Amino acid sequence: MSKIATSLPNAAINLDRASATALYRQLYDQLRDAILSGRLAAGTRLPSTRELACELNIARNTVLNAFEQLYAESYLERRVGDGTYVSHQLPDDLLRVNKPPSTRTRLKRNAKAASFLAVSVANYSGPPRPFRTGTPAFDAFPYKLWGRLLSQRWSNYDKEMLQYSDSAGYLPLRNAIASYISTTRGVRCIPEQLLITSGSQHALELVIRTVLKPGDKVWIEDPGFLGARASFIAAGAQLVPVPVDDEGLNITSGIERCSDPQLIYVTPSHQYPLGSTLSLSRRLALVKLAARSGAWVIEDDYDSEFRYVGRPLAALQGLDTEQRVIYIGTLSKVMFPSIRIGYIVAPPDLFDALLSARCLGGHQSPTLEQAVLADFISEGHFARHIRRMRVLYAERQQALVNAAKSELKGLLEISPSDAGMHLLGWLPQHADDRHAFRAATTAGVEVTPLSAYCIEPPKRGALRLGYTGYKSREIWRATRRLAEALRGV
Ligand SMILES: Cc1ncc(COP(=O)(O)O)c(C=O)c1O
Repeated sequence: MSKIATSLPNAAINLDRASATALYRQLYDQLRDAILSGRLAAGTRLPSTRELACELNIARNTVLNAFEQLYAESYLERRVGDGTYVSHQLPDDLLRVNKPPSTRTRLKRNAKAASFLAVSVANYSGPPRPFRTGTPAFDAFPYKLWGRLLSQRWSNYDKEMLQYSDSAGYLPLRNAIASYISTTRGVRCIPEQLLITSGSQHALELVIRTVLKPGDKVWIEDPGFLGARASFIAAGAQLVPVPVDDEGLNITSGIERCSDPQLIYVTPSHQYPLGSTLSLSRRLALVKLAARSGAWVIEDDYDSEFRYVGRPLAALQGLDTEQRVIYIGTLSKVMFPSIRIGYIVAPPDLFDALLSARCLGGHQSPTLEQAVLADFISEGHFARHIRRMRVLYAERQQALVNAAKSELKGLLEISPSDAGMHLLGWLPQHADDRHAFRAATTAGVEVTPLSAYCIEPPKRGALRLGYTGYKSREIWRATRRLAEALRGV
């Protein structure tokens, strides 16, 4: 397939000569998409049709046709003698603040958001198999103990387990979690600031519903978590993709792209999916920016329990003296995903609004599971379980690194990581990770291409491999199958 690519500011264009869709139509669609998602902001100057045609190596007429269509629909405007700009008044009400979006716009946004989620959960059917990510070691979960705690609660005939209860969550669980995150993560909180949610995706939705309006500017990590991106798109936010490097989110680059975001989404402990840790200097710069600009910061601390070397940096929330950081945690990784329990540590100013949103959006999480989890934590089983999983996951990671060293030479470069539940395998320079993904899928190996998480194309293709849910021999077997599949790409 012959591909053509260019990069306008914030909007990579990828045209496919082999596609049945005309090139001008592909260009039109991608520019329109970039404008509607906010990647090409209002007022951005576009290259001339001649420059763009030259850069894309296509006929100038093709660019002219795409631009004409965008002028006709008011996405672009001409300024005589000065060139072409993204219009300030967009035809879609997608970016307009204060005006409720039409039903059609909302349906379109939701469909687009769902398509992102479809990428992230595409493989998640049937029993987990290597290298599906986000899968804890189900084979090592203390089923019997959990069953005993569950049956103890159930056999007490406690009416509290059956009736409606506090939307903020079961108080003993809020106490247990508050105490756990203050001591292990340096989060500054009291139980009264905690809201129990149905996982962190739900927590994100509640925060978005509470603090964000359509058209608000949101910094997101690029590459980043698709669930967050999907929720921001569904809310009609203007996405500002901010690059990530070895020190995590690049704050300077974010400020250059947009100095006054309303919201910043970040995974500081273990950047998703690259795995870097946000450096202390950047943490300080981020809380300072939030204090100065009044932006809210969502700290998604999804897998910080699993650090194998040294101690994790304390949570960003603990550094924030201005109460701008909204801390989100989940039990999906450390317990199991179907438990559907997560939590928000709300800045005091936001607590009541978040509680109303929680109450309206389904009232509460099931009391029984909350109570059993509270027992599991307060009786010390939780801390023990984490310690055991840390040892087991370090062993499983080592198995993957060893298997890759032996089987994937020249095909995929996998280095160990100090933290997390997945590793990235880097493909040879210029290899397309979507081709590698398709070959692996055909061979029955579940991986995700790095490009699926990217807005701007990655400099090098990679595959994401989860290892925590699989025994060493399964890891070795799947690695051999993956090697065979990659040799055929
Ligand atoms: C970075 C990140 N945030 C949030 C979530 C959502 O977790 P939950 O199952 O609690 O909704 C995930 C799930 O994989 C994740 O990877």
